[in-house]
Amino acid sequence: MDIRVFPAAADLARHAAASFVTHAASAIDARGRFSVALSGGSTPRLVFRLIANEEFARRVNWSATHIFWGDERCVPPDHADSNYRLARETLLAPLGIAESNIHRMEGELPPAEAAARYDARLRAFFGNAPPRFDLIHLGLGEDGHTASLFPGTAALAETEAKVVANEVPRLQATRITFTAPLINAARAVEFFVTGSAKAGVLREVLVGNNQAPYPSRMIRPTQGTLTWLVTADAAAQLPTELIRHA
Ligand code: 6PG
Repeated sequence: MDIRVFPAAADLARHAAASFVTHAASAIDARGRFSVALSGGSTPRLVFRLIANEEFARRVNWSATHIFWGDERCVPPDHADSNYRLARETLLAPLGIAESNIHRMEGELPPAEAAARYDARLRAFFGNAPPRFDLIHLGLGEDGHTASLFPGTAALAETEAKVVANEVPRLQATRITFTAPLINAARAVEFFVTGSAKAGVLREVLVGNNQAPYPSRMIRPTQGTLTWLVTADAAAQLPTELIRHA
C-alpha cells in the first residue's frame, strides 16, 4: 500500500491525471484496451477536469479506453446526484468519448434490474475471464464507506456477485455498487481523499485498531496495487512514517 500526500487538491489531481495516462498506456500496450471504473462524489471533479485537459488527454488513446463506474445513485443520468452526469460534464463530453466506450450504470431503472444489467455488461466486456479492471478510482466517506459499500449494509457480505443493489438506510436510498471482491480483483486501485473532515476516518481506516466496520478496510487488491492519494489536511492524523510526501 502506498500513501502519497500532496500539499493541495490541485496537486493530487495532477498526480491522478498523470497516473491515469500511465495506467492507460500500459494497459493498452499489454492488452489492447484500458478499463477504468470512476468514482462519484465531489473529489473526482478536479481529477476529471485535469484528465480532460489537453496536457493529459492528448496522451490517452481514447478509442481503446472504456469508462465504467464503481457505483451510482438510483437517479436518472441527468440528475444532479448522478455520478455519470459528473463525469459526462467534466470528462466525457469535453473529450467527445464515443458512446460505445461509455458503460453507464442505469440508475433510472429499478435497482436490482440495473445491477443485473451491469453485471451482464461486465461479463460481455470481460468475456469468460473474471472481471479485472485496470484501474478503479475510489473515494472515502466520513463513515468509512467507499463506492456505495456503506457500514452495516448487505453488500459488505457479498462474496460472489460483482455488482449489487445495496439498500443504505442512513441515506434512505438504494445504490448500485461494485462489491469488494470485484474491486479487489483490479490491477490498480486509487483512493482520492481530501479535506480535514476526512483526517479522522482516514487514520482509523489505515492504522486504527478499533473494530469499527469501516468498509474501506475491505479494499485490499489481491494481485494489484493500492494507492492512497491524500491531501496534507486529510493526512494530518497519520503517522509520519506511513506516508510519502509528493
Ligand atoms: C459516491 C461515491 C462515494 C464517494 C465518497 C467520498 O457515489 O458518492 O462513490 O463513495 O467517493 O462518498 O465522496 P467525496 O469525495 O465527495 O468526499
